[in-house]
Amino acid sequence: MSETIETLLTETRQFKPSAEFTSTANASSEDIYAQAEADPEGWWASWAEKLDWYKKWDTVLEWNRPFAKWFIGGKLNACYNCVDRHVSAGMGDKIALIGDGEPGDIRNFTYSQVKDRVSQISNGLKAMGIGKGDIVCLYMPMGPELAMTMLACARIGAPHSVIFGGFTAESIADRANDCGAKAIVTSDGTWRRGKIVELKKIVDQAMELGCHTVKNVLVFERVGAPGTETNGQAAPDYNQGTWVEGRDERAADVVDTASTDCPCEEMDAEDLLFILYTSGSTGKPKGIMHTTGGYLTGVSATSKLVFDFKDTDVFWCTADCGWITGHSYVVYGPMSNCVTQVMYEGAPDTPGKDRFWKIIEQHGVSVLYTAPTAIRTFMKWGEEYPNGCDLSSLRLLGSVGEPINPEAWMWYHKVIGNEKCPIVDTWWQTETGGIMITPLPGIVSTKPGSATRPFPGVGATIYSEEGVDLGANSDGKEAGGLLVLKRPWPSMLRGIWGDEDRYRDVYWSKFDDAYFAGDGAKRDADGFFWLLGRVDDIMLVSGHNISTMEVESALVDHPAVAEAAVIGKQHEVKGQAIAAFVIVKAGYEATDELRKEIRMHVGQKIGPVARPDDLIFTADVPKTRSGKIMRRLLRDIAEGRVLGDTTTLADPNVVASLQTEHDKEGQ
Ligand code: WTA
Repeated sequence: MSETIETLLTETRQFKPSAEFTSTANASSEDIYAQAEADPEGWWASWAEKLDWYKKWDTVLEWNRPFAKWFIGGKLNACYNCVDRHVSAGMGDKIALIGDGEPGDIRNFTYSQVKDRVSQISNGLKAMGIGKGDIVCLYMPMGPELAMTMLACARIGAPHSVIFGGFTAESIADRANDCGAKAIVTSDGTWRRGKIVELKKIVDQAMELGCHTVKNVLVFERVGAPGTETNGQAAPDYNQGTWVEGRDERAADVVDTASTDCPCEEMDAEDLLFILYTSGSTGKPKGIMHTTGGYLTGVSATSKLVFDFKDTDVFWCTADCGWITGHSYVVYGPMSNCVTQVMYEGAPDTPGKDRFWKIIEQHGVSVLYTAPTAIRTFMKWGEEYPNGCDLSSLRLLGSVGEPINPEAWMWYHKVIGNEKCPIVDTWWQTETGGIMITPLPGIVSTKPGSATRPFPGVGATIYSEEGVDLGANSDGKEAGGLLVLKRPWPSMLRGIWGDEDRYRDVYWSKFDDAYFAGDGAKRDADGFFWLLGRVDDIMLVSGHNISTMEVESALVDHPAVAEAAVIGKQHEVKGQAIAAFVIVKAGYEATDELRKEIRMHVGQKIGPVARPDDLIFTADVPKTRSGKIMRRLLRDIAEGRVLGDTTTLADPNVVASLQTEHDKEGQ
């Protein structure tokens, strides 16, 4: 790759926070940036002080690159900080979790009820022989029990490893074996698009494949006692056939009957809180490790300032707890701030395409945190769905997971936010634990498509391929290159489970003095960051480094385009040529005329070099289960190769139909 990434797309719209928002914002003064920059350790320590510690730390940070220890000598418990201390402070009757099931069943838990239930789950786990340091895998529906089981693990010092409930038996076995899990917690099933997915059965298959260290499987009942009917479907009889006496335990037996009294284990700040596997684009999943004190400090601080939590807020983060977003911004961040929040079990189009907006209306959601892939899907479905619901309770919107294209940002701003809600576009990773680049909504003016500025205390900047800091040189000029973090932060990963070398190689070997995030980014003349996607996805077209994200944004900017995925395919002359897979909005027809028009549009928007050679209309693009476009598979299709690993695809049918479309339409 040549030295820097060229950035072609320009976006000049800017939105200032309203005086009204700023006047009540948790962060309202620019000074905090300077304060944190002058003394990052002091800044983070001031946030750690807001947590409850059994024993205060002796040293804030010990940094032996690439290994950091934060709040050394400190003792605390994450569950205590997310639950018990709120009950002790008189907030026990406040609703913590609103569990909204896909079939429409609603279950609320106050902080007191969470404390009792979590204690019972902890006692149930203890009765199964789980104690401090034992790893527990969770394979559960998105709902209150999942959050409470995570907290129950934290309460007794047993690190959890949550496996997303859409993964296969092989993925469960791989992960359980990699971390040496002692137990798996699951449920009979979950609801997805009106159907029951039998989770316990999938765990049984994983056990058959061989989870060598797992002694017990704990089963919650979610879809109901065997035979009970919901919407015409009978709950499966998970008690029969594959039930293994002595291995399998029903929550009804070991949790419901357990005492509601369970003391919190005093954990060292650097004790492991959880492992979360992230697959990345290639290779075997990495077990990312997060510890207790630093992680909780990071997610608690970022939640408070980025989501601006107030006592009256109803927060809804739409991510599943199987991802880092659900760990940091459903469980540990919001709950350490005593927030009321919604957890939704199912699909966004069940029973109708307005399900999300109905949830917001019904529960009075005030802060919504979702992903660009969801926003683009809603754009494709049409405005009539949100317009038919009362969204006036919303006051702040968030985005995470991918770069948000300016047009999707504008749609979110206008149609969902009614032009009155600030948007926080938050850049971070499983590895960073918490939000790293984001606007603070009462302070920072936003620009559609930009994640704006590093969170106070975060040392984000842009390096050239050779390791020159382009951000620091910013003399009012733009800089495009590789995103790095120049100093340690409390919620940073502590390594990859069982693979120290890989930890060094992946994140710390490219540059001597910074963490390499793997993303391309530019910094504009105001110092704002624009994320350009994974470096592996950046194209080299006739000697120009062009970001797939910018071309996708130009495509989505055309009124007929709902979603686009762009890749560079091998080209004899240009090196790489741009191929675009395009989904049109409802009401538009995919004609040759339109294809021409869209290609021209990209050329006009960002220049002829970025005009796609191929433009393939498609009904869908392959995505991972967390909604990220799998460009590697698109490259396989475009270059006529046999498809690589497709196991992490959300919907395997998509690639088959894409291949047909490509062969038909590709030029
Ligand atoms: C991408 C999700 C642009 C990025 C929290 C990162 C983003 C990867 C953004 C991490 C954003 C996440 N703008 N890109 N606001 N948020 N990403 O580990 O490529 O699932 O490296 O963590 O998602 O994905 P992960």
